[in-house]
Amino acid sequence: MERIKVCELLNKEAGIEVQVKGWVRTKRGNKNITFVALNDGSTVNNIQIVFDMNNFTEEQLKDVTTGACLCVEGSLVASVGSGQKVEIHAGSLLIYGTASPDTYPLQKKGHSLEFLREIGHLRPRTNTFGCVLRIRHAMAFAIHKFFNDKGFFYLHTPLITASDAEGAGAMFQVTTLDLNNVPKSADGKVDYTNDFFGKATNLTVSGQLEGELGALALGQIYTFGPTFRAENSNTPRHLSEFWMIEPEMAFYEIKDNMDLAEEFIKYLVKYALDNCADDLKFLNDMFDKELIERLQSVVETQFVRLPYTEGVEILMKSGQKFEYPVSWGTDLQSEHERYLVEKHFKKPVILTDYPKDIKAFYMKQNDDGRTVRAMDVLFPKIGEIIGGSQREESLEKLENRIKELNMGTESLWWYLDTRRFGSAPHSGFGLGFERLLLFVTGMANIRDVIPFPRSPKNAEF
Ligand code: 4AD
Ligand code: MG
Repeated sequence: MERIKVCELLNKEAGIEVQVKGWVRTKRGNKNITFVALNDGSTVNNIQIVFDMNNFTEEQLKDVTTGACLCVEGSLVASVGSGQKVEIHAGSLLIYGTASPDTYPLQKKGHSLEFLREIGHLRPRTNTFGCVLRIRHAMAFAIHKFFNDKGFFYLHTPLITASDAEGAGAMFQVTTLDLNNVPKSADGKVDYTNDFFGKATNLTVSGQLEGELGALALGQIYTFGPTFRAENSNTPRHLSEFWMIEPEMAFYEIKDNMDLAEEFIKYLVKYALDNCADDLKFLNDMFDKELIERLQSVVETQFVRLPYTEGVEILMKSGQKFEYPVSWGTDLQSEHERYLVEKHFKKPVILTDYPKDIKAFYMKQNDDGRTVRAMDVLFPKIGEIIGGSQREESLEKLENRIKELNMGTESLWWYLDTRRFGSAPHSGFGLGFERLLLFVTGMANIRDVIPFPRSPKNAEF
């Protein structure tokens, strides 16, 4: 007999013989009858299996405990009590793997998320993480579908690079040098000539610079891959290894960029509502009673678009007491972003035209000489979910900015060639995949929307 997944079984009509395989969630019953809720990960819903104790012995069922893995064959029967349309009346049972009640950590329902982080290797077997991981998959698929349908090309940018795209400097170094015996040159600095790549390299903080090379050849590209930042930010919104989606478009100005970002997020949220209903309902009922409502409202609302300068004026006039004071020129903290989104406008906000000194070197300079054509998309409960900009296409202005920042143009010669040869207006942005998932799942901590979180002092599983 061929195995049928639970998600399919639950939609089948009664009256057939079936085989199901999965892990025991709960077992209850009495001398005459035993009920087992089995889950195989294909859906948050379980299939109920009924063992008539006239046909099975206590001994046969003794190892059917929470967490054990079973193969059951039996008849699919209309169900009265299981909350589902159908259940299985077991004919045969095979136990693939036991899970001792004395040592299997996931005995009861409702473990805290903190506890589950300590058993990150097993937490995918909980309802909550099943839901999150299925939604994560659906969002990844929808991202590729969105861009493919629009004629964008998926460009694979390198994870190991010699550049610091964001200029923030918080990078993980990649080296094969012997750290106990680091070669130094005469001036006392590390000599990288014998390192693996013959120069200092690091894990990428963004695929953007390579993405721009692609956009100025293929027209419209996107990247979707892991991104690494070694900043010591122990917050519920930062990971050391996260995934980022970075579209980059030739001939797009800032307004086109904003339009695309807004359409993109709405598409993804709507995709989740249309395709992940059971998982969203579970998360809505368990963690966040306003989740589905919030998702629906984002799909329907027009995002506010506002220059940074006006945003700062609103914050300064708000009378709100912030932990970090705000004035023109300061980088906005999450508390400021959330005030604008949650209290003032009560909808997502795209903030534009930030002071050039708090943004990266590549952003297009405005005529005022002090702001750049940046755009950050700010979301309720999260703050910044997207960062992007129109890019500076003038070779001269870009070189001057790089010099001003003492970044050195030598290592960026290949990037500057895009402006030297056939430069074009272009724009792009980066969506933090886990920040999107925070919004879509309603989870409060970014460590709970990635299967194996990496954060300072945390790389166990
Ligand atoms: O604003 P960021 O730093 O922008 C860039 O990296 C640009 N190169 C993007 C571009 O224009 N192509 O990062 C983009 C997004 C942020 O808005 C945030 O959602 C996410 O990446 N992000 C993080 N997510 C989790 N953990 C971190 N440490 C993150 N840092 C940024
Ligand atoms: Mg940013």
